[in-house]
Amino acid sequence: MCSMTDLIKRLKNGDELSKSELISLINCDDAAGEELRALAEKIRIENYGHDIYTRGLIEFTNYCRQDCRYCGIRKSNLNCRRYRLTPEEIMRCCEEGYKLGFRTFVLQGGEDAYFNDDRICRLIEEIKGKYPDCALTLSIGEKPRESYQRYFDCGADRYLLRHETANKEHYARLHQQNQSLENRMRCLWDLKEIGYQVGCGFMVGSPYQTDECIADDLLFIKRLDPQMIGIGPFIHHSETEFKDFPDGALEMTLRLLSILRIMLPKVLLPATTALATIDPRGREKGILAGANVVMPNLSPTGVREAYQLYDNKVCTGEESAQCRDCLSIRMKSIGCRLVISRGDSKNTGN
Ligand code: 5AD
Ligand code: FES
Repeated sequence: MCSMTDLIKRLKNGDELSKSELISLINCDDAAGEELRALAEKIRIENYGHDIYTRGLIEFTNYCRQDCRYCGIRKSNLNCRRYRLTPEEIMRCCEEGYKLGFRTFVLQGGEDAYFNDDRICRLIEEIKGKYPDCALTLSIGEKPRESYQRYFDCGADRYLLRHETANKEHYARLHQQNQSLENRMRCLWDLKEIGYQVGCGFMVGSPYQTDECIADDLLFIKRLDPQMIGIGPFIHHSETEFKDFPDGALEMTLRLLSILRIMLPKVLLPATTALATIDPRGREKGILAGANVVMPNLSPTGVREAYQLYDNKVCTGEESAQCRDCLSIRMKSIGCRLVISRGDSKNTGN
């Protein structure tokens, strides 16, 4: 216990812990776990008060050229009903979102060749032209550096690209041969250099993940020093080869949220939909463990069922306004409030 307290102190001081120290921290007992949580909550409050930022997520296409083994919209899932939103539909999502108080829009989609750079740029210009006071985040996968540069020049502010795992062997087990950890990392460093606010992240409890993989993730994240980190439990999808693997654990996800908050005090850390899917109060628990962002869905309800990265995803039947109100009540129940703001990161480290 005493040595755990010591490790936590060193984590807080910004010392680089060794891999084995990180592994013992990840596996700490409940008392040390509570110590981590309470410290993470304190640091969240010091940096962001009781404000919780929201982002309106627009899942604009579920076509994907990739075939990640864990993902429900992987190319080889022939039972997935594919859809693309039209630019008009996307603009309607933004309009509704703006009225509801969202000041960040996240355009998320599979790697869909239809949305080539010209089309993406046109969308960015249209959204930023109409909503200059909003931040625009892209989450559309791996692209050449030139494409990232074009989107940035058109006005995109942020980019989410989870690294998925920082361990090369693990990466290979989760993906196909045409996908490499090197390219994933190349993308993240390019995005950072170009000037985006960058988000990386990983799934907790993904198939073949070991404690060592998680330690690698933590060390990589510390080095990248991103503005945002998305983590959530792995959840099986019945149309993937990982359908029989167990889902990631709530406790481990919460513990990692706390560790990340302590390691990067100013980072933007969402309590994800996946967390809400494995526990009815998952998002609240995530906030209490150090998270400070929620990302409800603004996609039209007619397509939400089709954007199933994993089984039993919550909120697929709710209208955007319902989710906003529901989240607002949930945040109030733990003494926090949803704020109307772009919610930029206070980590200006790049
Ligand atoms: N369970 C949990 N998260 C998943 N993602 C993809 N598939 C799953 C799954 N089965 C996550 C990946 C991806 C993000 C958009 O969703 O980490 O980067
Ligand atoms: Fe969607 Fe609660 S957040 S219904």
